[in-house]
Amino acid sequence: MNDMNLPMRAFDVEAIRADFPIFQETVYGKPLTFLDSAASAQKPRVVIDAEVGLYEHYYANIHRGVYKFSQDATEAYENTRETVRAFINAAKSRECIFVRGATEGINLVAQTWGRANIREGDEIILSEMEHHSNIVPWQMLAGEKGAVIRVIPLHDDGSLDMEAYAGLLGERTKLVAVAHISNAIGTLNPVADIIRMGHDAGATVLIDGCQAAPHLKIDVQAMDADFYAFSAHKAYGPTGIGVIYGKEALLDKMPPWQGGGDMISTVTFEKTTYNDLPYKFEAGTPNIAGGIAMKAALDYISALGHDAIHTHEMDLLKYATEALTAVNSVRLIGTAPEKGALISFTMNQAHPHDIGTILDRQGIAVRAGHHCAQPVMDRFGVPGTVRASFGIYNDRTDVDRLIDGLKKVVDIFG
Ligand code: ALA
Repeated sequence: MNDMNLPMRAFDVEAIRADFPIFQETVYGKPLTFLDSAASAQKPRVVIDAEVGLYEHYYANIHRGVYKFSQDATEAYENTRETVRAFINAAKSRECIFVRGATEGINLVAQTWGRANIREGDEIILSEMEHHSNIVPWQMLAGEKGAVIRVIPLHDDGSLDMEAYAGLLGERTKLVAVAHISNAIGTLNPVADIIRMGHDAGATVLIDGCQAAPHLKIDVQAMDADFYAFSAHKAYGPTGIGVIYGKEALLDKMPPWQGGGDMISTVTFEKTTYNDLPYKFEAGTPNIAGGIAMKAALDYISALGHDAIHTHEMDLLKYATEALTAVNSVRLIGTAPEKGALISFTMNQAHPHDIGTILDRQGIAVRAGHHCAQPVMDRFGVPGTVRASFGIYNDRTDVDRLIDGLKKVVDIFG
């Protein structure tokens, strides 16, 4: 049995692929090799059915209606919150705030906790591998408050320089915001150490968990994260829904973000009082269908089991790393000892976009470019990379097809 007490399924990639309707499709007459799950993962039938099921059978707005469908939809939506709580091992479901995605979650923290707590001269520590979503909201806040951004550098293999991090921490450090797994180079960061060191310096710590939530068992209490953000769409769920977890004591003290329905307790023209957690941060009609379908996605992951997923994906990562290393003109970008299931590389002959286009013609979907992480591209002196990222529906055949595809690149570009 796994963490959720759901029956564990055998890890059978063929059976998993059969659960994902997209794999019935062909691309230019070729079977689909989908190696872009880090951008957004494909959806199993249970997720699609959960969305459609709401619209076809019990659709109504939530938290508002006294009638059956409204209550059924509310119950389904709130059931997801409890599933999220268990999925990340939060102490309470009221600590799990629904947002549009991790980007919105980080912006929420920057605009509420940040505006209330960051002062002129305070320091915000980020890392050189951050996604733009975990840089720009802090830059905007720092610009407004006169705060200073400090950056943890990377070693040549793409791992964080933890000594440099220790040196950056000080009494002016108010916030540390770091990715759990880098979307661009795959590094798995030692988040528990990062958080402990941040706390020892008196800082609050936010972890961007977008690339970790679909792949690793997340335990926000064990790592002691103050805030943890992730999106459903990278975890086989719908777009437009995600979670910002925050410790209750922090969320309780934070001012609300957006004003509107659901986030209030009472309103007069003179004064508004705010709702309790989590609703204080959930103004307006939310993505009801997405919220309900997110539960199906998280249940699907949990039924497979994080350990089994991890074992499978690490096998793929090792196999792909060895196969790519054997291609002469390939340079791997990001070779840290601890990595998530993605691999970034360049080739001497061709620009990443050209490589991506040639692969596409063979039915192979990869991401090519800077991956919304320009600073880490600058760190490695490349304009962009080709990124192959793995999910539960990939197997070694997909890697073999990728390598065959790259041989075409060599044939064309020499
Ligand atoms: N952040 C997503 C990626 O890495 C979109 O591709």
